[in-house]
Amino acid sequence: MSEKVAKLYDALFEIEHSLKHKNIYPIHKRLNLKSLGYVDIYDYVLKKYIGLKGNLQILDAGCGVGYGSVFLAQNSSHKITGISISPKEINQGQKVVKSQLISNCDFELKDFLSLGKRTFDVIVCVESLKHAKDINNVLKTLINHLNPCGKIILVEDVFVGNLKTNSLVSKFQENWILSEVLDSNTLQLKGVKVKKEDLTPLIKTGLHLSFFIRKTLVFVSALLKDKAFKQLFLGGIQLEQLYRNKQMKYQLIQFTK
Ligand SMILES: C[S@@+](CC[C@H](N)C(=O)[O-])C[C@H]1O[C@@H](n2cnc3c(N)ncnc32)[C@H](O)[C@@H]1O
Repeated sequence: MSEKVAKLYDALFEIEHSLKHKNIYPIHKRLNLKSLGYVDIYDYVLKKYIGLKGNLQILDAGCGVGYGSVFLAQNSSHKITGISISPKEINQGQKVVKSQLISNCDFELKDFLSLGKRTFDVIVCVESLKHAKDINNVLKTLINHLNPCGKIILVEDVFVGNLKTNSLVSKFQENWILSEVLDSNTLQLKGVKVKKEDLTPLIKTGLHLSFFIRKTLVFVSALLKDKAFKQLFLGGIQLEQLYRNKQMKYQLIQFTK
């Protein structure tokens, strides 16, 4: 399962990287945050849930090509570690911190479940935990990697409704290689304090569909050739439809011990 997810993100990296000029870019949703004074979700999490000052150890769990880790490092005094299971993403992140001389950020090719004895003050998971084989188990493991008073900030698509009878959600699940789909039942852990914020109203409406339509012509050759990209593309459209059906919520969930 992890191997398939790693291949998916390696493929995404190759295709996106050939089309985008920037070294790193966010892989998450675009939100209407600028009018509130935030650059994007990582900025929101940093300012509202972490704070800019201090010397916290922060794990960006499922860091993509490193956009968020580098953002956190460049906009705070904290020490950031980004992990991903995609070798191509990690290579890119490492290249960027080296070329830009960013000393408070590093990247490691690691699974959520292979952090050894490392502990962190904050663990940030932006749209990454959905890929876990057993989401609650990964959450419990990550909680054990928290220092006292530490927290996990999870930002995810959370399904609202009956998973068993929703055929769209199962197609989405298949395309994005998800063992399970996060819903409010998934995220119930004993002895852990949970605080939720619904970010759904901040999603730029219509953006995903129009984004996909505009990009289709450019991406079509890659689409025809690359199975992984096709899967991501179709899954993205299905996810967009689930949001339009009001069957998905974009939630920020804070877990503290
Ligand atoms: C949608 S991307 C999100 C990237 C980044 N957090 C962002 O918001 O731009 C999901 C990321 O999770 C990573 N990932 C998926 N399963 C993982 C696992 N078991 N351990 C570590 N990283 C994982 C993928 O490789 C990818 O980097």
